[in-house]
Amino acid sequence: MSGTGRHPAGAAERGAPAAGTPQLHLLHGGGARPSGTLLGGDAGTRHLATMGMPWGRLLAGPPADRGAEDLASHERRLGPVAAVVEGDGLRRTIADAGIVGRGGGEFPLAAKLRTAAEAAAVTAVPLVVVNGSEGEPASRKDRALLEHRPHLVLDGAEVAAAAVGAPDVVLYVHGGRPAVVDVLRRALGERSGQRRAGPTVHLVETPDRYVAGESSAVVAVLEGRGPLPSRRRVPVAAAGVGGRPTVVANVESVAHLALAARFGAGWFAEAGAPGAPGSTLVTLAGGVSVPGLVVEVLAPVPVADLLRLHGGWDRPPSAVLVGGYGGRWVPGEALWPAPVDRAALRRAGAPLGCGLVAPLPPGACGLAVTARLLRFLARESAGQCGPCAFGLPAMADAFDALAGGRAGRGELRRLQRAALATRGSGDCGHPDGAADLVESALHVLSDDLTAHARRGGCGGGATGWFPVPRGHATAAGPVARGDGW
Ligand SMILES: Cc1cc2nc3c(=O)[nH]c(=O)nc-3n(C[C@H](O)[C@H](O)[C@H](O)COP(=O)(O)O)c2cc1C
Ligand code: SF4
Repeated sequence: MSGTGRHPAGAAERGAPAAGTPQLHLLHGGGARPSGTLLGGDAGTRHLATMGMPWGRLLAGPPADRGAEDLASHERRLGPVAAVVEGDGLRRTIADAGIVGRGGGEFPLAAKLRTAAEAAAVTAVPLVVVNGSEGEPASRKDRALLEHRPHLVLDGAEVAAAAVGAPDVVLYVHGGRPAVVDVLRRALGERSGQRRAGPTVHLVETPDRYVAGESSAVVAVLEGRGPLPSRRRVPVAAAGVGGRPTVVANVESVAHLALAARFGAGWFAEAGAPGAPGSTLVTLAGGVSVPGLVVEVLAPVPVADLLRLHGGWDRPPSAVLVGGYGGRWVPGEALWPAPVDRAALRRAGAPLGCGLVAPLPPGACGLAVTARLLRFLARESAGQCGPCAFGLPAMADAFDALAGGRAGRGELRRLQRAALATRGSGDCGHPDGAADLVESALHVLSDDLTAHARRGGCGGGATGWFPVPRGHATAAGPVARGDGW
C-alpha cells in the first residue's frame, strides 16, 4: 500500500470543489476553523505550532498538560458531527483536498479510497483501518494525536468509513502503549454515550514490532497471522483483511481528513505547499533541545526555522537524518535553507516519510549512530526474505566494523554492493529503508569515513536521542490483542 504518488493537481486547481458536487460540510456543525495560516507576528513562529498553540490545525486546542481533549471540548471547538454525506461526492471533495498519506509512503488518500469503493461495489464489504502502530522508535506524532486529540482521529476514521461505505473501523494501536489505549477506550465510551450513527469501531493492539505497521503486515495481524508483511498481487485497498477492500490509513492522515471534511478543500490547501497541501507533523529527534517534540508545520518554512525555534540550533548541523530510521542522511548545510515541504523534500531526495527530523549532535559519530540504527532495522525484520535474512545483518556487521575503524576500502565496496542488491528485493519496503540509510550515510558522512579509516575511529559515540526499544523482539512476535475483532 505504501507508494510514492504525488498529488496530481496544484493548489490553484484544487480551489473550490466543482459545481454540482454534493458538498461535504459533513461534520461541520458551526465550530471555529483552526487558522493554520498567518495571523501576523513573527512568520517563522506562526508557521510552526506545538500542542495547544491556537494557530495550529491538528495541534490546536488544549495544551499538552491537559491530556486528552474530551468530546464536549472537541465539539465546542470544532463543531459536532452534523450530517454525513456518503459516496462519490465525499470522495471527490477528499480528492480536491489532495491529502497525501502521512505514514511514510505519501500515497494520495483519495486514490486509496476510490480503489476501496470500486472494489467494494463488486466484491466484499469494505473496512477502514487507522494505522496507529507508529513503530518508528523516535516518532511521536501519531501517539501525540491519539493521546491528546482522540476525537479528531475518530472523526477522521468515520469520514473515511463514510467515503467507502465501511460499517467497521479498526483502530490499530501499539499494544505497548497502555496510556494511548486507555485514552481511546475512554473516547470510544464518550461517543457511545451519544448513541451516534456511524461505523462500529474495534480497538486492536498491535504487536510491538517495527514491521507491524506495514500495510500488508497490518492485514496479516488482523487475520491472526502475526506481523508478517507479504508481497501482494492486488493492493490491500482492493482486497485486504479476509478479502475485504481495506483502507489502511495513518493516524495523522485521518486527522487531516476530519478537518478537510469540516472546512473544505480550499481551506485545507491554505496550509502546506502546492504539491503537498495541508500542514504536516514533524517529530524532532537526535541532537535537539526537546527530544520527541512534535511540531506542526503550517507553511513551507526553511528547515532552519524549525531547528532554530524548536531544536536549539543556531547554525546548520553537520548532517540530519530525515524521514525515519529507514530514511536518509542529508548534509546539514544543504538542508538548512530547504523548505519543510513534503513534495520539495522528496524531489530533493530527502523524503519526510513519517516526519522524523533528527540532526546529528555536535561530537556524535554519525557512523556509530547509523550502525546502531541499522542493527535495530536488521533485528526488526520478519526474516522471511533474502535481503532481510542475510543482507541486513551483513550490512549491520559491516557498519559496526566501519564505526569501529576496522574496515578498509574492500568492506566499503562490499557495503555499497550489498545496499544495491538489497534494494527492491524484499516482499515489503523494509530493506529499502535500510539501503537508504546505508547509502546516504556512505555519501553524507564521507569525512567521518575517511577519519575512521585513517585513525581507526573518531572518538565520538552514538549520542543524541536516537532511541531503540530495549530488548526489542527478534522473532515474529505475538498476534494482536483486540476488542472483539
Ligand atoms: C517497514 C514498514 C513499517 C511501516 N510502519 C508504519 C507505521 O508504523 N505506521 C504507519 O502509519 N505506516 C507505516 N508504514 C506505511 C504503511 O505501509 C502504509 O503505507 C501506511 O500506513 C498507509 O497510510 P497513509 O497512506 O495514510 O500514509 C510502514 C511501512 C513499512 C515498509
Ligand atoms: S522484506 Fe523483510 S520485512 Fe519485508 S517481508 Fe521480507 S523479510 Fe519481512
